[in-house]
Amino acid sequence: MLVIHSKQDLDEQLAEWRRQDDHVALVATMGNLHAGHLSLVELAREHAERVVVSIFVNPTQFGVGEDFDQYPRTLERDTRRLKTSAADLIFAPDIETMYPFGLQDATTVSVPRITENFCGASRPGHFDGVTSVVARLFALTQPDTAVFGQKDYQQQLVIRHMSLDLSLPITILTAETVREDDGLAMSSRNQYLTDEERATAPLLYQVLSGVGAKLQSGVRNFEELESASLKTLGDAGFDVEYFSIRRAQNLEIPDRDCDELVVLVAAKLGDARLIDNTVVTI
Ligand code: PAF
Repeated sequence: MLVIHSKQDLDEQLAEWRRQDDHVALVATMGNLHAGHLSLVELAREHAERVVVSIFVNPTQFGVGEDFDQYPRTLERDTRRLKTSAADLIFAPDIETMYPFGLQDATTVSVPRITENFCGASRPGHFDGVTSVVARLFALTQPDTAVFGQKDYQQQLVIRHMSLDLSLPITILTAETVREDDGLAMSSRNQYLTDEERATAPLLYQVLSGVGAKLQSGVRNFEELESASLKTLGDAGFDVEYFSIRRAQNLEIPDRDCDELVVLVAAKLGDARLIDNTVVTI
């Protein structure tokens, strides 16, 4: 498996694959890979002959006081993990390759409305950072397909919106969330949890699943479900940013007849900010 850092080496490799008529799928990551990322690679491989995994801890999507400095940089371990996966190439650019004009003069890609609530409200500027870096990764790796995880539900909707709106010739796929045995969604940030917090963390998915089951069985008092869940999580020690039932398609407020809902949650537990969701199709 190739590990490439420069645009020139990447261009040469992509040109070689294009000569062979191979399709390319991109899995964009910030590294510190776990089984959730590997499942994205598997799905990518089902849709393309070549899989590129990008590893870049993108500074523009972290707010002031967030964990950009602590974010684990584990390229050697990630490379070992990907060697036994279906990935063909790791693209691990430096900051100059990603932002050739520097961060001050970088072009920003910004998606309106759908970025305003939830993670967009609790992390101002976050989605501008995500769309700007993903647009750059798309331009650099020229994929036919790109795979994102459902755990970052709002992120994958925002990227779909950007790609459609800009007519990018890229198929966006969303891969199911991979969970630990006790239901906790896999995340690079789970390692910030203490042992005690780790024992509490699965409650997030238990509450989500409970609400999902109620919605599935026809319960429609959304506000009551939300406030009861906020209380359960708050009592257990979570500092909940949002717990919300929305239209799965666009995160708008649903009416009683909506047949595709998503239940979204973000909560801090100690130093870890955890997000998760469940989609309910009626
Ligand atoms: O989901 C992530 O890991 C990041 O937001 C992404 C898509 C790699 C952009 O930096």
